[in-house]
Amino acid sequence: MGGVWMISGLNYQLQFMINFSHYIVFIAFWIVIGIGTSVFLLRKEAPYGRFSSRNWGPMISNRVGWLFMEAVVMIAFLCWIPLRHYDWKTPASIMISLFFIHYLHRSFIYPLMIRTKNKKMPVIIMLSAMLFNTVNGSLLGIWFADFAHYPNNWYYSPWFVAGVLLFFGGMLVNWHADYTLIRLRKNGESGYQIPRSGLFKLISSPNLFAEIIEWGGFALLTWSLPALAFFIWTCANLIPRAVANHRWYKKEFSDYPPERKILLPYLW
Ligand SMILES: NC(=O)c1ccc[n+]([C@@H]2O[C@H](COP(=O)([O-])OP(=O)(O)OC[C@H]3O[C@@H](n4cnc5c(N)ncnc54)[C@H](OP(=O)(O)O)[C@@H]3O)[C@@H](O)[C@H]2O)c1
Repeated sequence: MGGVWMISGLNYQLQFMINFSHYIVFIAFWIVIGIGTSVFLLRKEAPYGRFSSRNWGPMISNRVGWLFMEAVVMIAFLCWIPLRHYDWKTPASIMISLFFIHYLHRSFIYPLMIRTKNKKMPVIIMLSAMLFNTVNGSLLGIWFADFAHYPNNWYYSPWFVAGVLLFFGGMLVNWHADYTLIRLRKNGESGYQIPRSGLFKLISSPNLFAEIIEWGGFALLTWSLPALAFFIWTCANLIPRAVANHRWYKKEFSDYPPERKILLPYLW
């Protein structure tokens, strides 16, 4: 009888190890795909926002596109979490809350705030972002459901403290910069102006810079591979986007401030 328990315990352990090793290998592939995507995006900007184009097939309203493509990450995440049996008194639950604060805003507030005057994005962009968010939400959900075991003194670790500061600092700057851009238009307008306040005096895309900082903070405070993969993907999406935005501003506005950098104040 004892032998049966030993074997089933071993099976369980083996299954855990195999699953965990599959999970790690998948994330490694996922990171490689992210890096490949950034190489592609450096050559061809993603066709949404100022680069939106009808050449990419059917189009959908900007607002609806943002809502669907971002909300899906929360569903994917929650699919893996045993909500009723989860221990909500651990550092992991704080980490989950941070993730949800960001995505509740991005999915349900940001799309209502944009001044987008019937602008559209290609459906393919919405679908590819939904695919990305499904994988990303699942990888993080699996982490918090199965593998995240943080001691209670994790709250006092330098990783957690520095990560939380970076996360909230990044989030606030990201919101501020996004809403500064949004307020450049009056309701019903859809054109573009040169933003001239705050961090925009130093770099062309402070919202993207701050989003990178935010998810860097999240990777630090969770000290986890799926959050690191998300951070790498965020860089892979947003660094090429910032390069394209900077190039676009210089092309569109002959009076664009020449001292303004792309993404890193005073440096680049
Ligand atoms: N984590 C990730 O991988 C990821 C990926 C993509 C985006 N995001 C985040 O999603 C948010 C939006 O991204 P985005 O690329 O759409 O940002 P964006 O191009 O800076 O646009 C933000 C908003 O401001 C408007 N806008 C931008 N520049 C303007 C200007 N010069 N004059 C007037 N209005 C202007 C845009 O309108 P239009 O839409 O009409 O251009 C849009 O409504 C950002 O916070 C970004 O960090 C995150």
